[in-house]
Amino acid sequence: MNIAVIGTGYVGLVTGVCLSEIGNNVTCIDIDEEKVKTLRSGKSPIYEEGLEELLQTNIQRERLHFTSNYEEGIAAKEVIFLAVGTPQGADGSADLTFLNTVCSDIVKYLHNDVVIVTKSTVPIGTNENIKTSIEQNAVTNLTVRVVSNPEFLRQGTAVHDTFNGDRIVIGCENEEAMDIMEEIYKPYNIPIVKTDLRSAEMIKYASNTFLATKISFINEIANLCEHVGANVDDVANGIGMDSRIGGRFLKAGIGYGGSCFPKDTNAIIALGNRVDYPMFILESVQYVNEKQTDLLVDKIIKRFSGNIEDITIALLGLAFKANTDDMRGAPSVQVAHRIIDAGAKINAYDPVAVENAKSVLPKEVNYVKTIEEALNHANCAVILTDWKEIKEYPISLFRQYLSYPIVFDGRNCFSLEKFNGSGIEYHSIGRPS
Ligand code: UGA
Repeated sequence: MNIAVIGTGYVGLVTGVCLSEIGNNVTCIDIDEEKVKTLRSGKSPIYEEGLEELLQTNIQRERLHFTSNYEEGIAAKEVIFLAVGTPQGADGSADLTFLNTVCSDIVKYLHNDVVIVTKSTVPIGTNENIKTSIEQNAVTNLTVRVVSNPEFLRQGTAVHDTFNGDRIVIGCENEEAMDIMEEIYKPYNIPIVKTDLRSAEMIKYASNTFLATKISFINEIANLCEHVGANVDDVANGIGMDSRIGGRFLKAGIGYGGSCFPKDTNAIIALGNRVDYPMFILESVQYVNEKQTDLLVDKIIKRFSGNIEDITIALLGLAFKANTDDMRGAPSVQVAHRIIDAGAKINAYDPVAVENAKSVLPKEVNYVKTIEEALNHANCAVILTDWKEIKEYPISLFRQYLSYPIVFDGRNCFSLEKFNGSGIEYHSIGRPS
């Protein structure tokens, strides 16, 4: 199949590379010429395990191409995937500026009937609008078949998720287009959910906001566990073994972040308000998530008798989750701002996110290159991202480097037993101190 993919962010690039890997002839299009140059040379601008190898192999096989020219990129393509960003807009709903610009930019080069597939997360009804707008503005009389094909990849495991997804959702109201999509996805051997356009668009929002709900739910239970002396890890294990509940996304911590959960929760709340059906559960999910970082900072301040002025805090991990340098929606941003506002100093360590952190953390933050440098003479350590090297850090070094051996673990990286008799004061989320 001849396919174009517009947008080479982590969704578009991984989609394009993997579709070429299973034998399609794919052209990825991005208006960023520098990025296109980098990609043509076989280098991936984002780190995703396994991506660069597949990129290079398929460029060599001549079935993966990159361009910033729409006319060249979509020429003779049967299917065009749209994978541009849909960031949060001013009123909380998704901002469709990039998507609308792409649609008006490509329409002048469309001369034959085409299938347009939306991978971007878009508000309900967007695919119908895409169809109408392209058909109305096309230079020749053509039929556009639109497909909603939401993406469920996680950052950090995107290639693995593409080949091992739980399901592929195809929303479409045209049989021929549905057949084309089934044909494209056949080699993945993943169950396909066929539905209409609006339901497919809703499945994406409902999936992400349901997972966000699981996280806020377990965080709320964790906070209650702290009051009554229970252990949330055991509670999560005990409820998660019930297959109706499922054990995943029940890890208590400082709350969810990233570019998707916060944005999609906001978008669904905004949609509910627009149609006069307020989303009470999701409003609470969002409230609990915002409060979760505050609770951790409150705990730190309380431990220092209400005053952290002039103390030094080692922040370990800044990215919104492990294995990414992405700082979008990272809880570390709120934590760092509150700590600096309260007059404390911060030594911050992250294996890869420091460059991105510099533009969102307070300017007073001191960035260091190792965990030891962060801990050295600090009054306590605060763990915010569960990087492997942090989870595997020898705890004796906390005692060796910190001037007060106190650890606040916002990700429950360590078992409680590890700290028994260690001489280190260990505070985690939802577990006895
Ligand atoms: C999420 C979804 O998991 C993907 O299915 C979806 O495709 C993607 O959004 C998207 O819409 O593009 P992602 O944002 O990469 O993927 O990250 P997740 O691994 O889902 O983690 C989200 C946040 O929840 C992180 O801050 C993580 O630390 C937190 N989390 C996750 C918890 O606090 N507890 C958990 O048990 C799981």
